[in-house]
Amino acid sequence: MKKILVINGPNINMLGVREPDIYGKKTYSDLVAFIQDSAKELNLEVKCFQSNHEGAIVDEIQQALGTFDGIVINPAAYTHTSVAILDALKAVGLPAVEVHISDVTKRESFRQISYAGMACVQHYVGFGFDGYKMALQFLA
Ligand code: DQA
Repeated sequence: MKKILVINGPNINMLGVREPDIYGKKTYSDLVAFIQDSAKELNLEVKCFQSNHEGAIVDEIQQALGTFDGIVINPAAYTHTSVAILDALKAVGLPAVEVHISDVTKRESFRQISYAGMACVQHYVGFGFDGYKMALQFLA
């Protein structure tokens, strides 16, 4: 059974409370349950990790080497700033898929660059929670 690491970045733990008109009313716990259900359906083992700290995300990516077969990552705001997360993804070389809940392509100009995305083989943007399932499907 393939093992996939699902990483969510800063403020994703605030889902349901933060800007519900953009991110919806469902919580991070709802997201984890959705990801676990999707994984079961696809015969995958998943670990969900969320952090508000860039270095913790880098550590988690590094530790995935030798343990996981792929990474699904929504780096949240670090998408648009973090060369460290890009370099960590490149360093481990695991197939990685970028997910964004909202359609960042239709939002502010500062959201138009994705550093992490440069190390990802596929991208699902603006599909809400479904993007995570599509990413798992891709890696399965
Ligand atoms: C996000 C989009 C980012 O621009 C933003 O900073 C987030 C969430 C998304 O899932 O739509 O925190 O990654």
